[in-house]
Amino acid sequence: MHCPALPDGFDLTDPDLLHHRVPLPEFAELRRTEPVRWIPQPHGIAGFADAGYWAVTRHTDVKYVSTHPELFSSTLNTAIIRFNEHIERDAIDMQRFILLNMDPPEHTRVRQIVQRGFTPRSIRALEERLRARARAIVSAARERSGPFDFVTEVACELPLQAIAELIGVPQEDRSKIFDWSNKMIAYDDPEYAITEEVGAESATEIIAYAMNMAAERKRCPAHDIVTTLVAAEDEGNLNSDEFGFFVLMLAVAGNETTRNAITHGMHAFLTHPGQWELFRRERPATAAEEIVRWATPVNAFQRTATQDTELGGVPIRKGERLGLFYASANHDPEVFDDPDAFDITRDPNPHLGFGGGGPHFCLGKSLAILEIDLIFGAIADAMPGLRLADAPRRLRSAWINGVKELQVTTG
Ligand code: HEM
Repeated sequence: MHCPALPDGFDLTDPDLLHHRVPLPEFAELRRTEPVRWIPQPHGIAGFADAGYWAVTRHTDVKYVSTHPELFSSTLNTAIIRFNEHIERDAIDMQRFILLNMDPPEHTRVRQIVQRGFTPRSIRALEERLRARARAIVSAARERSGPFDFVTEVACELPLQAIAELIGVPQEDRSKIFDWSNKMIAYDDPEYAITEEVGAESATEIIAYAMNMAAERKRCPAHDIVTTLVAAEDEGNLNSDEFGFFVLMLAVAGNETTRNAITHGMHAFLTHPGQWELFRRERPATAAEEIVRWATPVNAFQRTATQDTELGGVPIRKGERLGLFYASANHDPEVFDDPDAFDITRDPNPHLGFGGGGPHFCLGKSLAILEIDLIFGAIADAMPGLRLADAPRRLRSAWINGVKELQVTTG
């Protein structure tokens, strides 16, 4: 059955759509009437079967695609599902060293190495430092007499400090990492006036920075991921491109996602005062997962079919792209009771905010959950009466469900 509610030319990866809202009504309509739907796009690119992609909107199908990398590859780039006339094949090829864009067995090899830096022990080792950071961030914000921007003053800070601690970036260089990662993500938003060239330059700068750090850690090892990865490089297990792109990916993945989970979470609490009251009183351990489900900071990633196959009864041809809409899967009534309710006691909560459970499942999940717990714990302790001062301003982006400004007040 063809989904009647979507006009011709409607594209779920249109940055203007995410600029204003997440297309929840359209997702609901698609899940009901055409859960695997072909969305044509004006621009194709060499190497892909057709201009366009399959919009995959049901929880079960997003999971199926994510857990079958032999049928649905990540190597033709996972992040960009809206091509335009400026995107060259080279730009896609360049990204093949990013972990997200690898298939097994390369992916398995690199992931085994990089996950050494994400053991429960290394995350626990950060906890006390991050708790102190979270408290300091919130007390600085509390001193504000009038309205302030929650995004810049609170939500951006802890993820930046966490990722910088993990990578081992010294305090004086942390703002550089922050600027570079912002530039790589915000090129679709005219307010930042960032061209794709500037985004590419930032990528080059971050990689050069990582390479310098690597050289330094070879001379003088430390307790951080770079030292672990440099050792792997020396053993011949990780090449220097893979190393540089991994640090780049961490900077983006660690900053842009968690910040938006925290901002959407704060907005949800401020617009659902009963849930905030409950959080302040009981601090349920289930809250952070619900915040990620509600926020779904990564709206979608893509895969490409490796052979002719089938999904939910729909034939898919080799080379065709599929957009996995996590934001839709996270509101699927087949899986979640009352999916449009923000309920911090939701349990179980098998949301796909961190991915569909396949080999690429988010490596930073434990760190992200820890950060969300710590920051909302600190806010509930020190700024329990925070109020909304203005509506959030959203980021224009094809795939990040972002907020660039959220004015709040303690007064
Ligand atoms: C992968 C979401 C925080 C590092 C992913 C994926 C998603 C995601 C959707 C792709 C999964 C897939 O394709 O199946 C999120 C969200 C976060 C978050 C919503 C915060 C709320 C972090 C943090 C880090 C991180 C804090 C690092 C410090 C990574 C890495 C991958 C990844 C390295 C790639 C894994 C691979 O390809 O094997 N994340 N992430 N993420 N994330 Fe996260």
